[in-house]
Amino acid sequence: MIRLFRASNFRCLEKVELNFGPKFNLIHGANASGKTSVLEALAYLGRGKSFRGASTANLIRHGEGEFVLFGEVGDGGDGGSSRPVGLRNSRDGLEVRVAGESAPSAAALAEALPLQVIDPEVHNLIAGGPELRRRFLDWIAFHVEHEHLLHWRRFRRALKQRNAALRSRADESLIKSWDAEFIDLAAHLDESRRRVLELSLDGLREHGQALLQTDLGFEYRQGWNSDKDLRAALAEGLERDLQMGSTQSGPHRADLKVSYDERQARKLVSRGQQKLLASAMILAATDTAQVAQGRPLLLLLDDPAAELDRHSIERLMAAVAALGCQVIATSLEEDALDFPEQPAVFHVEQGRVCSAVK
Ligand SMILES: Nc1ncnc2c1ncn2[C@@H]1O[C@H](COP(=O)(O)OP(=O)(O)OP(=O)(O)O)[C@@H](O)[C@H]1O
Ligand SMILES: [Mg+2]
Repeated sequence: MIRLFRASNFRCLEKVELNFGPKFNLIHGANASGKTSVLEALAYLGRGKSFRGASTANLIRHGEGEFVLFGEVGDGGDGGSSRPVGLRNSRDGLEVRVAGESAPSAAALAEALPLQVIDPEVHNLIAGGPELRRRFLDWIAFHVEHEHLLHWRRFRRALKQRNAALRSRADESLIKSWDAEFIDLAAHLDESRRRVLELSLDGLREHGQALLQTDLGFEYRQGWNSDKDLRAALAEGLERDLQMGSTQSGPHRADLKVSYDERQARKLVSRGQQKLLASAMILAATDTAQVAQGRPLLLLLDDPAAELDRHSIERLMAAVAALGCQVIATSLEEDALDFPEQPAVFHVEQGRVCSAVK
């Protein structure tokens, strides 16, 4: 969780400082006042990248050369320890510091400030392609299993090397020489995704019931023919891989099939239902990670009221409140969201935080 937060020259924010409450926080303001900018800055501090996929050049305030973000983050315990996390990003690159030490990668940010985001694009987790759903599972795995990141990085490298060999039309024996490592790392990824899905399954179903009053189903598709082991699938697909210049079988092609009342969710549910379904998945993932880490995570809600009817907003906010995580939400109106207790309230106007009432 985060208490003190400072941002300078991030999107429309010239210089802001906010002291967040440990539980519920509301940032409200008119359109284009800077609400999403504050949440995006927070998410950037926990990920080292934008949740909207925006480029660094677009995130730096117009006319400036760099943005700087800083937070005091803690584990949520009463009077518990807190440590400074900061980053500076210019067109020359990203510089990260955690607890006074320079950090080699953005993974140190995710470890220091684990967070999830529900924003107006969240329905893409259901409506979009498989990559977001793979990322969803990998996010849980990263926060639950220590070795996941290492395996994932090594797998990506093995995949790149195999693809490069395919494209250079290397000798078949050279391509196959990558296969042993590729298969070994694929097995690690595959197993950890299956484990964390299993671990989250009750929570996924419970949140599905809470938000949509329906049965949700989740089925992991491993990314290659389920009748075969990966070695056989790679051997069988070699001709096709050579033609396409990339590996078509493996966990990088996996998907998570989501069903709603036993029907395929992606094709059948409305946009509002997609948002609720995706939110149910994110809340369940947050819950799994919180339990595994034994500390509250940060949940960022960007305009959660958008596209939801009154009852749906109430159900969503009740489920959010029950999680026990730190919540920072935005909305146009001050009273649009039902928090179970008075949140810390911030009003934003033209990129400035005008008031903080506790
Ligand atoms: N790099 C940048 N430099 C300066 N201003 C920017 C930059 N990027 C975005 N902006 C501006 O920041 C303003 C605030 O955008 P933001 O998305 O934070 O608003 P918001 O309060 O979330 O609005 P809405 O209610 O419409 O979602 C916009 O006017 C936008 O044009
Ligand atoms: Mg916004």
